[in-house]
Amino acid sequence: MPETIQKALVILRAGGLIGLPTETVYGLGADASNPLAVAKIFTAKGRPAGHPLIVHIADAQAIAVWAREVPETAWTLARRFWPGPLTLVLKRGAKTPLEVTGGLDTVALRVPRHPLALQLLKEFGGGIAAPSANKFGSVSPTTAEHVRQDLGATVDLVLDGGPCEVGLESTIVDLSQATPQILRHGAVTLEQIEAALDQVVLGPSQNQTQAPGSHALHYAPKARLELLEPSQIQARAQDLKSQGQKVALLAAAADLEVMARELYQQMRNLDEQNFDVILASPPQGSGLAAAIRDRLSRAAGPRHPQQEQA
Ligand code: TXA
Ligand code: MG
Repeated sequence: MPETIQKALVILRAGGLIGLPTETVYGLGADASNPLAVAKIFTAKGRPAGHPLIVHIADAQAIAVWAREVPETAWTLARRFWPGPLTLVLKRGAKTPLEVTGGLDTVALRVPRHPLALQLLKEFGGGIAAPSANKFGSVSPTTAEHVRQDLGATVDLVLDGGPCEVGLESTIVDLSQATPQILRHGAVTLEQIEAALDQVVLGPSQNQTQAPGSHALHYAPKARLELLEPSQIQARAQDLKSQGQKVALLAAAADLEVMARELYQQMRNLDEQNFDVILASPPQGSGLAAAIRDRLSRAAGPRHPQQEQA
């Protein structure tokens, strides 16, 4: 076993915090069965308590440890997409601490695809509660360096698993109600989930049993982000420059997977260069484009201190 995994195990068992690489974004992990350890996550992130966290587990069998009344749809999706960027919301099992679920009677579960995370989860044997390892209000980290920049001394160890392969947070699907519903778009698409279940799946809605922290405005860079049609970008850039603003264009990759992978890194790069405004045109269409549009529109969303950020 690599020495860093050994160290991570010791930290987790002692109720400490680790930076955890996953294929989506880096997580800030703690022993999900230890409410004191879980409380440290909120302090480190500067996130108000009461936001539900995702419990990362080693394999689908562990669903039964954390959830109750598990529907057949959960096993189907787990078989099809785990390990991978899909989080299942299920009814909370009796042993799942309410500190992890933000007091909800549901729990979010995911088996991540990163080899280091999987090895750690297998050795640990329990669940690792982990939100994205960023400070409340900044973009999610996609490298170990981002985690160190954001959380520095508050994390006992950051496992470096290289840059994240997907780059956007997992898809969240709520299976705790009669009709499955996507709460957050991600790399596993609504269309793929419908195909796997052979049934209609609802998209995110305004009045959904809200995933707290999935409200507008998070994933936000410091610069103001404006979303425009491609044809409007040049004129708007000229306009802003003539007003003395420092303007950047967010590169739209032809390949959506590449765009997703690099989106948060790009936002960080632009922020380091102190741009006032970032102009971007969101990709059209379903699938991964929907997830990218979602993150861009949250990042562009109205800025209001009361709005929740994860
Ligand atoms: O890809 C990911 O999902 C990353 C990596 C680290 O796994 N994690 C992540 O965690 O994005 P976080 O905390 O930044 O976002 C988790 C989302 C939040 O919007 C939260 O509200 C939602 O999951 N969530 C967690 N438990 C829930 C529940 N029981 N019901 C509804 N939504 C839930
Ligand atoms: Mg987050």
